[in-house]
This record gives sequence, structure tokens and C-alpha cells, in this order.
Amino acid sequence: MILAEGMLKQGALKGKNILVTGGGTGLGRSMGEYFLELGANVVITSRKLDVLQETSKEMMAEKGGEVIPLACDVREIDQVEAMWKDATERLGQIHVVLNNAAGNFISPTERLSTNAFNTVLDIVLKGTSQVTLTAGKDWIAKKQSGTFLNIVTTYAWTGSGYVVPSAAAKAGVLAMTRSLAVEWAKYGIRSNAIAPGPFPTEGAWSRLLPGDLVKKFDPAKKVPVGRVGEHQELANLAAYLVSDYSSYVNGEVMTIDGGEWLKGAGEFNNLDQIPEEMWDMMEASRGKKQ
Ligand code: HXC
Ligand code: NAP
Repeated sequence: MILAEGMLKQGALKGKNILVTGGGTGLGRSMGEYFLELGANVVITSRKLDVLQETSKEMMAEKGGEVIPLACDVREIDQVEAMWKDATERLGQIHVVLNNAAGNFISPTERLSTNAFNTVLDIVLKGTSQVTLTAGKDWIAKKQSGTFLNIVTTYAWTGSGYVVPSAAAKAGVLAMTRSLAVEWAKYGIRSNAIAPGPFPTEGAWSRLLPGDLVKKFDPAKKVPVGRVGEHQELANLAAYLVSDYSSYVNGEVMTIDGGEWLKGAGEFNNLDQIPEEMWDMMEASRGKKQ
């Protein structure tokens, strides 16, 4: 099926060194795998070194190339700086940073402890800003160009109940993406974001649709195109945005959600629940009045 096919030509990312936070699992892993397939060297980083090591072995066995696993909790600036130093010592210039690591769970906001709220803010907003600042300062000091790609969500601009810390943090990441796209363009640094709709991953599904919720709230039903995303579809978009083919794209957030958020936003979109027969009846009664 074309949805599962790579889109860019072979070698499109040859010579690029790409750092993926949260690269050991889920969407980070899928994007990293495709970067590798396109010729990039990939550093994957997150808290769990055992997961990263296993993932990197599997990725290299399947796609070849070089994958370096480095443990780093993005909430800890010392760990971020040490990870960046290690990555640059081993690969030389890092050309792309994919800020993908995140933490999230559903809860009525009034039930959250201060620590629960701060934990998500710290991983998503502080973690992204710390990785961004560390990479950006180094690029600027060394007169190197670079590309940031930040993974947000569509509720970064709509907001969403029950995931309020995540919504607030992703909104911050989006604002940072757009701000730095302008401020750091003079250094040859681009910043873009992707806002994915639902893409099945163990990490997201277990925390956002725990237990029977997945049966009650089938995410595909909220999507106008009638399905959830395929990981390769996201990987194709990410590969384009980190490649030189997108050199003129800067400060953009690209939504890939099958129309999901707009469906929730349009005033009359829920009229798709009206059956054809009812439209027929309304049309007929309108005809009578004329
Ligand atoms: C309420 C919770 C909770 C929950 C944890 N906490 N889970 N509160 N509901 N489900 C509280 C804890 O009680 C604690 O507060 C505080 O949060 C920190 O919890 P820890 O377990 O100590 O934190 P930590 O080990 O650092 O783990 C972070 C985590 C965890 C965010 C809680 O879920 C995690 O590691 N997540 C990483 C992966 C992830 O979340 N992936 C999904 C991304 S999906 P107290 O007060 O008790 O100390 C995503 C998709 C968005 O972002 C869009 C979809 C369409
Ligand atoms: P995932 O597999 O749980 O990915 C999250 C990753 O972040 C994990 O690899 C985790 O690894 C890492 N991480 C968490 N806390 C960290 C920390 N403090 N420091 C470093 N790394 C940390 O879930 P996913 O669905 O693939 O999510 C990936 C991205 O897509 C996230 O930004 C998420 O918000 C976004 N997104 C997902 C969806 C979806 O439907 N799946 C939709 C919209 C947006 P460790 O546990 O090893 O640290």
C-alpha cells in the first residue's frame, strides 16, 4: 500500500547526522528508521538506555547505517549537555534535531497534583527548550547551520480538556518554533513543527486510551478520512522537513490528521449524522413551501 511506502529518493538524507529525542519507541523510532534508510546517521536518545540499545541494534540490522543510543533525560540540563557533547564528539556536526520526546496522560485537571502537572510541562516544554538551546548555542558558536523539527499536536492551538499540561506545553513548543524560525534564520537555522493526529503507538494509546476506553472512543471515528495515521506517512513528512528539499519552509506547522481537528471546529460538521432520508424529507418539505 502506498501509505506504507517511503516517499523521498534514496540518499535524500545522505551525510546528515540527525538527533531524535524519544527515538527508542513509537513515532520517534519510525521517523528515525526512515532517516536511516535515506542515508542519515541517527542518534536516538531517551531515559531508558536498554530500550535505546535494543532499538538501535534492530534498526541497524534492518536498514544498515549508524545508530547511536545515548541516555538522556531531557528535563536535566546536565544530561542534555553531556548527551550533546557525546553526540558531536562521535559524529561531528549534528545537522538536525527532532524534538519528539514527550510525556502525557489523561486526567481531569482538578485531580492532578502539582508534580503531575509539572512532570508533563518539564518533559515537553522545558525538555524541548533545553535541547533546543543546547543545540542552537553550539551551532551558532561554531557557525554551523541546523534544522529543528518539533513534534506538537493539533490541540497546541485549540487547547484540549483532560490533557491540559500537554496542551499548555505543546502550545509553548509551537510558539518557540515560530519565534526561533525568525530569530535564528540569520544563522542558517530553520525551525518547523508537525502536528500529528492519532497515530497508534504503545506509549500514547496506553496513556490516553487506557483499559476499555479504546473500545469506547475509537480514534478513527473522529477522523474525516475514516482511519488513523500510518507511521510511514508521518515519517515521509518528517523526512521532507529535515531534508534540504524543504529549505524554504521555515516557521511552519504541518498538520497530518486526516482533517480531525477541523471536524471538531466546524460549526455544522456534525450534520454528517443526518441520514440521507432526513435530507430527502427536508428537501421535499422545502419544495412544498415554494
Ligand atoms: C494522574 C499521574 C498519572 C496519571 C503519573 N501521574 N501518571 N497523575 N494521572 N495517569 C503523576 C504521578 O502520580 C506523579 O505525581 C507525577 O505524575 C509524576 O509521575 P512519575 O511516574 O513519577 O513520573 P515519571 O516516571 O517521570 O514518568 C512521566 C510520565 C509517564 C509522563 C508520568 O507517563 C511517562 O514516562 N511518559 C513518557 C511517554 C509518554 O507519555 N508517551 C505518550 C506521549 S503521547 P505525584 O504527585 O504522585 O508525585 C502524546 C500524544 C498527544 O503526547 C496527542 C494524541 C492525539
Ligand atoms: P512514545 O512512544 O511514548 O514516545 C515518547 C518518547 O519520549 C519515548 O521514547 C520516551 O522514552 C521519551 N521520553 C519521555 N520522557 C522523556 C524524558 N524525560 N527525557 C527523554 N525522553 C523522554 O509516544 P509517541 O506516540 O511515539 O509520541 C511521540 C511524539 O508524538 C510525542 O511528542 C507526542 O506528543 C507526539 N504525538 C503523538 C501522537 C500519537 O497519536 N501517537 C499524536 C500527536 C502527537 P523513555 O521512556 O525511554 O524516556
